[in-house]
Amino acid sequence: MSEKLDRAVAHVRSLVSFEPRVGAILGSGLGNLVDAVDVVAAIPYSEIPGALASSVIGHSGRLVFARAGSTPVVMMQGRNHFYEGHSLEDVVFIPRLLARLGAGVVTITNAAGGINSDYRAGDLMLISDHINYLGANPLRGANDDALGPRFPDMSDIYSKELRAVAKEVAASLGVGLREGVYLATSGPSYETPAEIRAFRVMGADAVGMSTVPEAIAYSHMGVKVVGISCITNMAAGILPQKLDHLEVLETTTRVQKEFTALMLALLERLGKHAAVAAN
Ligand code: HPA
Repeated sequence: MSEKLDRAVAHVRSLVSFEPRVGAILGSGLGNLVDAVDVVAAIPYSEIPGALASSVIGHSGRLVFARAGSTPVVMMQGRNHFYEGHSLEDVVFIPRLLARLGAGVVTITNAAGGINSDYRAGDLMLISDHINYLGANPLRGANDDALGPRFPDMSDIYSKELRAVAKEVAASLGVGLREGVYLATSGPSYETPAEIRAFRVMGADAVGMSTVPEAIAYSHMGVKVVGISCITNMAAGILPQKLDHLEVLETTTRVQKEFTALMLALLERLGKHAAVAAN
């Protein structure tokens, strides 16, 4: 894995000389964040050796190098999901590449269904912790000691310190930010109402089909993570209506401006944080 990453890093560096400090994985509907930053270069995943091309609608599949204010960032515009049939090792390949390219902190965003009945579609939720309900783990198989330890600690994946920073940034912008536990299922089917009731008992506030593999891979590598979910719909059985991918897309469009503003300010702040941490 390390050698495969080294080859991808060498290829990307032969195309772009840019030292990112912070990484960002842009979830459904947030891909437009790239329009709000100064893009320096973009590389389609299909041109990166070892990477899978992204196939889902709303995920265009490019590595984007940019400046968010004064912060040099590398962003994944589009991600690969477990439900597409990929192995989790493949799902976390480009996320790991962001770290190898220099990102010591990565923001991960996603669309999620709200389980907590205080939530409303359109809310943003800072991820405090996660429940891996995928039935799989990206670190399964031989451990690559060059990446991290065999049995990595997962007690502070969504850095408490950086969550405080995210809350400060949101407050300074007047953007409401919930905080809760994200549970990942493999998808692609949405959950049943009985599953959602069970997940609530387990302690989940939101449910989605991404983020957890990436966050585990980062924790393994010692990379700090800030996760933010856009609650695009209430989870199955909470409201008297069926779930629809269109609703997910409509909600991300509705909150896009606020979410983008929050992410921009956060990336700027995390750049300063990463600079201090590196010194
Ligand atoms: N369930 C799972 N994934 C999701 C949902 C949901 O309700 N909404 C957006 N992504």
